Amino acid sequence: AIERTLSIIKPDAVAKNVIGEIISRFEKAGLQVVASKMLHLSKEQAEGFYAEHKERPFFGDLVGFMTSGPVVVQVLEGEGAIAKNRELMGATNPQEAAAGTIRADFAQSIDANAVHGSDSAASAEREVAYFFSSDEICPR
Ligand code: CMP
Repeated sequence: AIERTLSIIKPDAVAKNVIGEIISRFEKAGLQVVASKMLHLSKEQAEGFYAEHKERPFFGDLVGFMTSGPVVVQVLEGEGAIAKNRELMGATNPQEAAAGTIRADFAQSIDANAVHGSDSAASAEREVAYFFSSDEICPR
């Protein structure tokens, strides 16, 4: 089915100047960018986005990292977009990410791991709506 998923290019990848290389991988895999913006997340925005991780020991570091510089948030659309994006990203820990994935090629650590992608249809719906109103999404 045609799906939408939320992608975030994280502060480490923006700082490395590889926004274009990452978006190019999405496009080459048949995903379309149907919404996009650059943001410097506030603490409140990052805490709200990652609310499900609030009790985890890494929550403070995660919020600190995600607010350390600008990010690019985007909606990707395409056949099986949620799983396809996760395949392109590779494992959360770049040390465990398969060769040729975005995290294997661009990420440093489990915190500075270059990209975020929604992990299910339910989280994709919540995450897309967290950053984009319907008039900011432009399907072709
Ligand atoms: P992301 O897909 O953005 O979702 C939550 C983030 O928490 C994850 O990527 C990692 O960057 C970060 N994180 C840090 N430590 C861990 C951990 N032990 N397990 C999962 N995620 C972690």
